[in-house]
Amino acid sequence: MAIQRPKGTQDLLPGTVEQWQYLEDTMRNVCREYGFDEIRTPMFEATELFQRGVGQTTDIVKKEMYTFLDKGDRSMTLRPEMTASVCRAYVEDKLYGQPQQPVKLYYIGPMFRYERPQSGRFRQFHQFGVEVLGADQAVVDAEVISLVWDLYQRLGLTQLEVHVNSVGCPVCRTKHRAQLQEFLSTRRDDLCKDCLDRFDRNPLRILDCKNPTCQAATIGAPTTRDTLCEDCSTHFERVLTLLGVAGVVYRVNPRLVRGLDYYTKTAFEVMVEEIGAQSAICGGGRYDGLVEEIGGPPTPGIGFAMGLERVLAALQVQHKLPEEKPRLFAMLVALGEKAQTEGFALLSALRTQGMPVSMDLLNRSLKAQLKAADRQGTRYALILGEEELENKVLLIRDLTLGEQIQVPLINAVEEISKMYQRGVYA
Ligand code: HAM
Repeated sequence: MAIQRPKGTQDLLPGTVEQWQYLEDTMRNVCREYGFDEIRTPMFEATELFQRGVGQTTDIVKKEMYTFLDKGDRSMTLRPEMTASVCRAYVEDKLYGQPQQPVKLYYIGPMFRYERPQSGRFRQFHQFGVEVLGADQAVVDAEVISLVWDLYQRLGLTQLEVHVNSVGCPVCRTKHRAQLQEFLSTRRDDLCKDCLDRFDRNPLRILDCKNPTCQAATIGAPTTRDTLCEDCSTHFERVLTLLGVAGVVYRVNPRLVRGLDYYTKTAFEVMVEEIGAQSAICGGGRYDGLVEEIGGPPTPGIGFAMGLERVLAALQVQHKLPEEKPRLFAMLVALGEKAQTEGFALLSALRTQGMPVSMDLLNRSLKAQLKAADRQGTRYALILGEEELENKVLLIRDLTLGEQIQVPLINAVEEISKMYQRGVYA
């Protein structure tokens, strides 16, 4: 049997890859405007980084990591997310010592989680994310969320639901945790198996469970917002004020608890319901204890990551993807070996001037070559047959208008270049 790609992965083929490039270009442009620099870290890291960073009680660490022994006894893991990796690099490469502070980084790349594949959920998926390290002010939180908002506006996405919450700091979280456990202690029988497990280890996550009986059991439960300390509360109110100033349309969702352990204070998610059950296209928040947790100096941090597959799905259902443009300006139609040699030199000269041009590689007939050029959406065919070669001319046929002109071969590059400059193309 033919070998197939692993479950939950995709081949991105020409036609689709252009959509990814469009999305990635737009993301890079927005990052540039906001003053973020790109970081690339290894695709695999020491397993301990994610155990300590993402947290032992999280679904990611408990069930979803691709972990393997690295030829010896070193336990390695394909990165399930990149925040922990960026913080590791921040410490290891001493980015805290750089003159430019805070450190503002972005990344685009594949992540790996062993999840049950379904629409919008993959085992290899791609994230675009940003992280700001070394700044604790509420204005940073607002800037990061604004960046997400601006990107979606630029892409033309609508029907966005931006949910914002504060999960507090370790001090207020301890208080909330105790109150929540007390509230749920009489409702334990209604909780699913996973939530019973979470009851002692991470009761906050029960608020986030999708199981209807767990959701019913948590109606009226104390929220994080009720227990915020003064500092966390002031911080959160300031974030909300600034989001209003930036024109971000958001909703405070006191039940929003993110699935990773490192969050403190601000947490947020963006949903597009139209794309189905896996509707979260972006998630993020502040993580003021993470850098220290993995052995670095105390450093506040905040960031987000969004799934490229899901953003593309949203753009697709909302018909917001740009139309595909023909990639080639002209196709050479050469007939016979001599014409092919002459044409080969012509193509080389045109490419040197930056024009995207190609030629038939299958030795087809004139008719078949013209048909192939037309099918590609190419505007011009550069026809060079024996007769043209003898008369030292080139035929330039406009495949859209069906017109053609003849130019001396010696002037061909100049003439074609003029047409290209004039933007006659497409
Ligand atoms: P996360 O919520 O686990 O957060 O993932 C962020 C986004 O990645 C999700 O909202 C979703 O769009 C996409 N995503 C996650 N898992 C999958 C999957 N299996 N298939 C397709 N898309 C998926 C984080 O990863 C944090 N590191 C975000 C962050 C950065 N927080 C602070 N800085």
